[in-house]
Amino acid sequence: MSDLLEMRKVSVTYDTYSGMVQSVRNISFCVKKGETVALVGESGCGKSVTAKSIMGLIKKPGKISKDSEIIFSGTNIQKFSKDQWRKFRGKECSMIFQDALVSLNPTMKIGRQIIENLDNHAKELSKEEKEQKAIEMLTLTGIPDAKQCLMKYPHELSGGMRQRIMIAIALITHPKLLIADEPTTSLDVTIQAQILKQMKSLQKQLNMAILLITHDLGIVADIADKVIVMYAGRIVEEGECREIFYRPAHPYTKALLESAPRLDQNGKQMLRAIEGSIPDMTNPPEGCAFCMRCPYAMEVCAAYIPEEKKISESHRVSCWLMDKRAEREGTNNERSQKNL
Ligand SMILES: Nc1ncnc2c1ncn2[C@@H]1O[C@H](COP(=O)(O)OP(=O)(O)OP(=O)(O)O)[C@@H](O)[C@H]1O
Ligand SMILES: [Mg+2]
Repeated sequence: MSDLLEMRKVSVTYDTYSGMVQSVRNISFCVKKGETVALVGESGCGKSVTAKSIMGLIKKPGKISKDSEIIFSGTNIQKFSKDQWRKFRGKECSMIFQDALVSLNPTMKIGRQIIENLDNHAKELSKEEKEQKAIEMLTLTGIPDAKQCLMKYPHELSGGMRQRIMIAIALITHPKLLIADEPTTSLDVTIQAQILKQMKSLQKQLNMAILLITHDLGIVADIADKVIVMYAGRIVEEGECREIFYRPAHPYTKALLESAPRLDQNGKQMLRAIEGSIPDMTNPPEGCAFCMRCPYAMEVCAAYIPEEKKISESHRVSCWLMDKRAEREGTNNERSQKNL
């Protein structure tokens, strides 16, 4: 599989009254054609900002640093003109937004909202052909009575149905990459599973790559090929799904796994919340941003950012515990045990 999207050293800041928010800090990763990549991490760690940078939606006071490169199908998209962006959004890359339920226009019938997206990208189709495509796509996303659904307003549909419509709008142009930002967060677990399954089967039919953004590691297990774990604007670990789930290397990934309910544990698993919160992103720590909350933190962790280490061809981690140069004694855990 070749690379569809390549993020090279991307940083995004927001200049606010309380200071410069360092939302995304020097991240690099790839998404291959047809692959599903999950981007996970707690609230505020930079997932949505990463997604928006790919869609060209970082608006003032936000700024992508000059040396960042975002390469899509071999082209640096930051150099796009307005016209190129218009063609890119929808046709090459579509996004389902985190606040999908409010992103539908309440005053417009579903049919028009879906067809409007086609109008930009498939001008050659007649009105009837567009309507037919809309019906097909709604049916594919699991909407019964798709024809009737076209005539309805968003408020006449349930949350799960509206979410499916957002997916239909995003997919009707057959994008090469779908960015799904928490696409099922507001829905109950069974509907979540149905929608994700539906998305996965559409992915196969359209040979589309998915960047799935979520704070819930539980839902990525049987969906993602690759998992990227973000903390405080940086990537702390990346690996194939099984590497992240069975051999997590970063204490933050381990903590995330312990805080996510797993279907394979039959409710026998102890869930543990991660104590503390992410640091102030206007003034992030000099070293590893997780060190304040990390039970294994050493002195070096607070002072220097850990280098990225390769555990396997597909698995990489940024943690001093993986670095032979780091002193092995004096972790937070050991210190607190000595005080006992
Ligand atoms: N428009 C903006 N203006 C100022 N700061 C912003 C803006 N958008 C995002 N940020 C900041 O950037 C950081 C990352 O935000 P982002 O929305 O990417 O988080 P997230 O990982 O998507 O969180 P969540 O899981 O809650 O959606 C946060 O500190 C946030 O406050
Ligand atoms: Mg978000």
